[in-house]
Amino acid sequence: MTLPEQGFAARVVAWQSTHGRNSLPWQNTRDPYRVWLSEIMLQQTQVATVLDYFPRFLARLPDVKALAQASPDVVLGLWSGLGYYSRARNLHRCAQQVVERFGGEFPRSAELLETLPGIGRSTAAAIASFCFGERVAILDANVKRVLTRALGFSADLARPANERLLWNEATRLLPEGSPRALQDSMPRYTQGLMDLGATICMPRKPQCLLCPVQQGCVAREQGRPEDYPVRTRKLRRTSETWWLLLAQQPDGRIWLERRPAEGIWAGLHCLPVHARRQDLERSLPAAVCEPARELPVLLHVLTHKDLHLHPVLRAMPPGVQPAGDGRWTSAQEWEMLGLPAPVRKLLQPFARACHPSFHPRESS
Ligand code: ADE
Repeated sequence: MTLPEQGFAARVVAWQSTHGRNSLPWQNTRDPYRVWLSEIMLQQTQVATVLDYFPRFLARLPDVKALAQASPDVVLGLWSGLGYYSRARNLHRCAQQVVERFGGEFPRSAELLETLPGIGRSTAAAIASFCFGERVAILDANVKRVLTRALGFSADLARPANERLLWNEATRLLPEGSPRALQDSMPRYTQGLMDLGATICMPRKPQCLLCPVQQGCVAREQGRPEDYPVRTRKLRRTSETWWLLLAQQPDGRIWLERRPAEGIWAGLHCLPVHARRQDLERSLPAAVCEPARELPVLLHVLTHKDLHLHPVLRAMPPGVQPAGDGRWTSAQEWEMLGLPAPVRKLLQPFARACHPSFHPRESS
């Protein structure tokens, strides 16, 4: 492994100030609540989507105390559609710990931030460098790509020992300077690495000619930037079929259950899920005589799994309900609840049936 040219950090910092992203709503602030919230939202979600959710979340829960006191349903409702709901549950627990353990102020070091739920080493470093100018390295997937290419780091990152070596390299490349100088350079450097990974050093067809660290970039000199990072372990994708019971009362209400606390869509409100069509039918009492209507199949892609969702619409007579622990829920109610995004989309046409305003009185 060769070293990139001297001045790696200085180049990243200078490039960030002229070519990086500098007006995102979670920038130009050192408020750890905002920075933390944005970093958690951005972990598995695109900037364009977060731009929508971030202001709405802040408007409803403007500080860590408000979040700590909110009900889990309010938090899941604000998160609904962002996916990876364990993030929302950890967010809530983290806010409660900030209040209980740290008197409502986020701790000011990456080391302590990392002791909070949902904050890993890289997120802790991002918050500490953005808010407190701490000299600590981040290493998310984008930054791994930038650094492995710049360094020609070809060791297999599936091995934890190699990942540790890359952390050491990331730390070695950090800006140098007095604590005062680092107050400015660290936020820029951290953001610069993120921006390089997102806009220049992309997985496919990186824009090397626009890159501030093209000179000295080993992968570019080798003419094969796309071969980095090296990671052997492949994710094995699986697929599952889920039968969704869409049971409806004559007044339009839908039968919703809460998902178990563990697993896919944990804790969210959802239509009852069955592994087989006949299990879905068996969950219905004999009094249901209207024929079933199968709605179009939806494909929902998770990280490790494709879900093939088969919704089945059943009209239920008044007072008759499916087996299981659910309740009849009106559109006004479910619109406020945390629902998995594909279920929310599936229910959208049924909101109309529930809202009285969608049934204008016949004019005589
Ligand atoms: N992804 C993770 N953190 C980010 C940030 N601060 N700005 C843009 N994208 C990000």
